[in-house]
Amino acid sequence: TVADLKGLKQGQLRLAVITTAKYIIPRLLGPFCQLYPGIDISLQVTNHERILERMIGNMDDLYIMSQVPEHLDVHVEAFLENPLVVFAPANHPLAQEKNIPIEKLVDQPFIMREPGSGTRRAVQSLFEEHGIKVKVKLELGSNEAIKQAIAGGLGISILSRHTLLTDSSEFSILDVQHFPMKRTWYMVYPSGKQLSIVARTYYEYLLEAAKKIVEHEVITSVPQQTLHSKSE
Ligand code: PGA
Repeated sequence: TVADLKGLKQGQLRLAVITTAKYIIPRLLGPFCQLYPGIDISLQVTNHERILERMIGNMDDLYIMSQVPEHLDVHVEAFLENPLVVFAPANHPLAQEKNIPIEKLVDQPFIMREPGSGTRRAVQSLFEEHGIKVKVKLELGSNEAIKQAIAGGLGISILSRHTLLTDSSEFSILDVQHFPMKRTWYMVYPSGKQLSIVARTYYEYLLEAAKKIVEHEVITSVPQQTLHSKSE
């Protein structure tokens, strides 16, 4: 009944998500809170390594991350793609090139995420796989700060495509071989943990919301024409 839905589902929901998920999770919390006004939420946004620490410390109900922890016994469910792409300023010389060899990235000043970042780890293992070494000009602990640095002409970087959801006209996504790098967001919690009713409700809500997003292709389509508009 409606009373079950609205009245009985009360309490605290503690979420901890990796930095890329902040571009979507807060937005999805709006409709959820309208459905369940009795649920109060705390949302921690931090990098992969800190999420792991929080999980080991049992500090939250649910976690969102892109890389499944290897040494922890966890329940895992994939719910959305989190592709990594090569970001450059809109007027970058390579912005109009197609099928750029990955080796060409070594000529570009590169902006790297901080140690502990899952994005950084994924980028480094791709570079290792192809035996290339980029020139790291700047290391930054935030996707937003990296975007500002790119827009300011400091260099290029590899970031989740989700970080581009709002302000796309300042950037181009370079068409580099092996990109987009496929990654996935997972909902994760320790296997031994009994989810609260509130956490279970959110878990199911997020799965449904993700399905709708995929159906409407809100996330998977990139408006290329707006991305290149400044350089044309
Ligand atoms: P990060 O997480 O903030 O640790 O880079 C993003 C990811 O792993 O996809």
